[in-house]
Amino acid sequence: MNASALARYRMYIDGQWVEAASGEHFQSDNPYTGKPWALIPRGGKADAERAVQAARKAFTSGEWPKLNATRRGALLRRLGDLIGEKSKALAEIEVRDNGKLYAEMGAQTAYMAQWYYYYGGLADKIEGHVIPSDKPDTFNYTRHEPLGVVAAIIPWNSPLLLLAWKLAPALAAGNTVVVKPSEFTSASTLEFMKLVEQAGFPPGVVNVVTGFGAEVGTPLVEHPLVAKIAFTGSDATGQRIYEAAARGLKRVSMELGGKSPNIVFDDAHLDNAVKGVISGIFAATGQTCIAGSRLLVQRTIHDRFVEKLVAFARTAKMGDPMSLDTQVGPVTNPPQFEKILRYIDIAKGEGATPVLGGARATRPECGGGWFVEPTIFTGVSNAMRIAQEEVFGPVLAVIPFEDEEEAIAIGNDVVYGLAAGVWTQSMRRSLMMAERLQAGTVWVNTYRAVSYLSPFGGYKRSGIGRESGQEMIKEYLQTKSVWISTATEVPNPFILR
Ligand code: NAI
Ligand code: MG
Repeated sequence: MNASALARYRMYIDGQWVEAASGEHFQSDNPYTGKPWALIPRGGKADAERAVQAARKAFTSGEWPKLNATRRGALLRRLGDLIGEKSKALAEIEVRDNGKLYAEMGAQTAYMAQWYYYYGGLADKIEGHVIPSDKPDTFNYTRHEPLGVVAAIIPWNSPLLLLAWKLAPALAAGNTVVVKPSEFTSASTLEFMKLVEQAGFPPGVVNVVTGFGAEVGTPLVEHPLVAKIAFTGSDATGQRIYEAAARGLKRVSMELGGKSPNIVFDDAHLDNAVKGVISGIFAATGQTCIAGSRLLVQRTIHDRFVEKLVAFARTAKMGDPMSLDTQVGPVTNPPQFEKILRYIDIAKGEGATPVLGGARATRPECGGGWFVEPTIFTGVSNAMRIAQEEVFGPVLAVIPFEDEEEAIAIGNDVVYGLAAGVWTQSMRRSLMMAERLQAGTVWVNTYRAVSYLSPFGGYKRSGIGRESGQEMIKEYLQTKSVWISTATEVPNPFILR
């Protein structure tokens, strides 16, 4: 395809649609065809600077700081309505750019409106306290105030949803935002800015810079006027950003993936457990932070369960992610594709047995895209790299266990702690496992459920802070304590009051 036939996007800064200062672009590919389809501005330091200045100006002057919280909430709810109207078109762009199934992305873009409704509703329910004073003639109260400019740095697996998790609470709290989408999936965020504009957010309140992490991400993170970084992505990049944030004493919230155990006991409803394990690792082609990439299965049912699982997974339909009956789509980008194949080789080298898949998919329905066969390894020990490191692909490591104690020990024996699944019909076991697993989310007899109502985030190296739910809006606020004296005279000035 020649460059003139590609869709051309612009960045959104200070309410304007702009090219990168350099005038350069880069191509974004369609994972199903393996071919470029869009041109995205290649932003750099000058663009990050411009966006942060715009966001700072919008935070301190103009309309935004004067809007009361109810009006801010109304803008967010209007944005939610617009998402509802455009969710199908947004989903199509997501699919074209990241290759995830339309069946999933269509539902996800529609559901995403709920974050804007929820935090829109919460905006004017953020209340300070009057503190009971222990001192005479004083009145002391708290205010919850926004932080300033928030940088939202987004990965490629669920671009608009993960943006909603950050943007909705950040705006509800009164901050302004600079968004940096992934270089692999920038188009949907730029398209979404049309709705932000239409909803009536003042210029500079939401800005988008596009480009590569090192070129536009780093200057954004290091910018002294950025007060907080909200990040989802790899733990290596998260650590780098955390270090930079520490130098600037900035706040962070981070969601950094995992190696989540999906634990099947011999008293489980096995057919349901099979579906739960499949949804944990083959849905979204395994490219999800909550992937249940370690199957811990009780030894007494190991062979029977693996047989059922393989039989079910074998039927998974691969192909065009736009077709509603496709179940496993392509991998989003070539580096990720290579990484998955590398991990498959690592697992084989470690002595794990591929009982399903274990290679690039060459089925005719996979066209020219980056497809990997759904892959299941048995004979995995928890010390192997395939059991410890995030693959972010359709690759499942099966590890047997004897009893509850061993399931807990293996389940917790990773550096991550984002999620865990438990399959059992015992109430006692459900509650006990939910208590003892070190994970920010535990699902019992279900997997991959998330909601705007429920806090989401990681234990251990899976992250810092939470997203969604009522409490987490505090991560976008700071508390001010205000003291007012009602005394008629100022007492001895040389002692602490
Ligand atoms: P990444 O973590 O490097 O990228 C995430 C975002 O951070 C992108 O927007 C990227 O441009 C930006 N970024 C990168 N370096 C930066 C820097 N120094 N300063 C500021 N921003 C920066 O993820 P990548 O390279 O796309 O994927 C690598 C691996 O990360 C995957 O193989 C997967 O294992 C994991 N991953 C985890 C995700 C999750 O949801 N936890 C999502 C996507 C990837
Ligand atoms: Mg792409």
